[in-house]
Amino acid sequence: MRVTFTVNGREQRADDVWEGESLLYVLRERMGLPGSKNACEQGECGSCTVRLDGVPVCACLVAAGQAEGRDVVTVEGLAGDGLSAVQQAFVDAGAVQCGFCTPGLLVAADDLLEQNPSPSDADIREGLSGNLCRCTGYEKILDAVRLAAARRGEGA
Ligand code: FES
Ligand code: FES
Repeated sequence: MRVTFTVNGREQRADDVWEGESLLYVLRERMGLPGSKNACEQGECGSCTVRLDGVPVCACLVAAGQAEGRDVVTVEGLAGDGLSAVQQAFVDAGAVQCGFCTPGLLVAADDLLEQNPSPSDADIREGLSGNLCRCTGYEKILDAVRLAAARRGEGA
């Protein structure tokens, strides 16, 4: 089947998509967007997080056909001319080690700060609770989100 949907503001199309093919597979393998990572393919790790009509979802659990006519934002869509504020904060806070979890965390953190520009630590933990990281111990990720929130508050 053919699927057509908007990705990061551009209409994209993929042909010969199998009914069981995931949105994650189509993004990575058919649309040339490998930013969303494939770690567990079971909805457990959050490394494949994208926004579907604005809502964070695990792209590995969404059938590509479910995205038909809808709006998808991947980690590639967060950056403008340079890194987004959240991306820059992850760099500055040293919140990236192997980086495998990072795209999903960035999408989740971006959504969190959009919904709640001044999150408490509990809010951040809750907002990122679907995203697993094997490397950082999470502290620097918390630091990064705090930093991004503070910079947004300052209008930076
Ligand atoms: S790859 Fe989708 S949740 Fe782990
Ligand atoms: S930085 Fe390696 S899994 Fe998070």
